[in-house]
Amino acid sequence: MSVQPGNYRVQNVAFGTYMDMFAGSSAWGTRITGWAGGNNLHQLWQFEPVGDNTWKILNAASGTYVLAPNHIINEGVVGGTPPDVFTFIDSDGSYQIKLADESLVLYLASGESDTQITLQAADGGDNNQFCKLCYDITTASPHNVAFAIVRNIATSTHLTAFVTESKKNNVHVLQADLADHVTLKDAAARAAESTGGSLNVLIHSAARIEVPTMFKRVTDYEDDKKLEEDFLQYYKVNTVGVVHSINAFLPLLRKGTTRKIVILSSHVGERNITWDLRIDVQAAFGASKAATHMVLTKYAVLLESEGFTAVGLLPGIVDVSATAVDARKSYLLPYWL
Ligand SMILES: NC(=O)c1ccc[n+]([C@@H]2O[C@H](COP(=O)([O-])OP(=O)(O)OC[C@H]3O[C@@H](n4cnc5c(N)ncnc54)[C@H](OP(=O)(O)O)[C@@H]3O)[C@@H](O)[C@H]2O)c1
Repeated sequence: MSVQPGNYRVQNVAFGTYMDMFAGSSAWGTRITGWAGGNNLHQLWQFEPVGDNTWKILNAASGTYVLAPNHIINEGVVGGTPPDVFTFIDSDGSYQIKLADESLVLYLASGESDTQITLQAADGGDNNQFCKLCYDITTASPHNVAFAIVRNIATSTHLTAFVTESKKNNVHVLQADLADHVTLKDAAARAAESTGGSLNVLIHSAARIEVPTMFKRVTDYEDDKKLEEDFLQYYKVNTVGVVHSINAFLPLLRKGTTRKIVILSSHVGERNITWDLRIDVQAAFGASKAATHMVLTKYAVLLESEGFTAVGLLPGIVDVSATAVDARKSYLLPYWL
């Protein structure tokens, strides 16, 4: 499998310990060691592409790169700049991390925490020379845990089937309603119990999408009362619900390693797109999503100094009717095609 740019924890196959920038120090020459797994930034590494399968490896805590002061056998690797450039050599999902254009690879001699990683000649033995790359923010690794939060577990039949069939046992389903902040706090508390109190990424997808009113213009409602109710309900779930969701999980995210908040947004909440494409339908829904953009920007400003990234993601037009609980949603797609 080819390596993709991104954030990883790098685990030694032989000992199960993780590549660790000692104490997260940014001082040049800080030793890089194998260390027992910890939910911290100094065990998080960003792979930055240089060229064709050549990479710089940046530590998230220190902001410095992996390098070996001298390219000789037994040399300890340290943090600093300029970075060395590495190539990942795949071996059934594990990798040798090799100095580009040279034969020496990263090597861990012992499973004792604080054992410095060194350069060695590659001998093909996966007991000590291979490192396994674990995606940090996906469920690709059984070391990661994902929580799927739905408002009704009983009717979430596709999700239940996915979890039941999954062999990884690392996806947990929790129940909460965006219109009820108490249930969100409760879900966050249950997630915290499983993770020891932390969460790396919050991806908020849920939104009120009511088939009968979804495509109404501001002048389409039967009466003013129905208009007001619909606008307020969209706002309650899609805007205030997002705020409750982020607030509930914020304490966990603050204890996580990546501090990312992603909200599924919508093009009908974008003023430029609405004007350029002359979209007059989806008035209440669009207004609630536009308000969500503002709320998200407020979080981005509020949490910037803590190293958070808070973004809205526009997924484009996606046919989700195959897994819809409300079969009428399949009729929404033709509006956009
Ligand atoms: N599909 C697209 O083309 C498209 C385009 C642009 C943006 N998006 C965005 O992508 C996200 C997902 O959309 P989708 O297409 O997957 O829509 P969807 O199939 O209607 O899914 C929306 C989900 O939100 C849940 N939900 C609604 N009200 C809730 C509440 N009060 N509390 C908790 N959950 C609630 C629904 O739960 P139930 O299953 O219980 O009804 C449903 O699972 C939305 O934010 C949407 O705006 C989608």
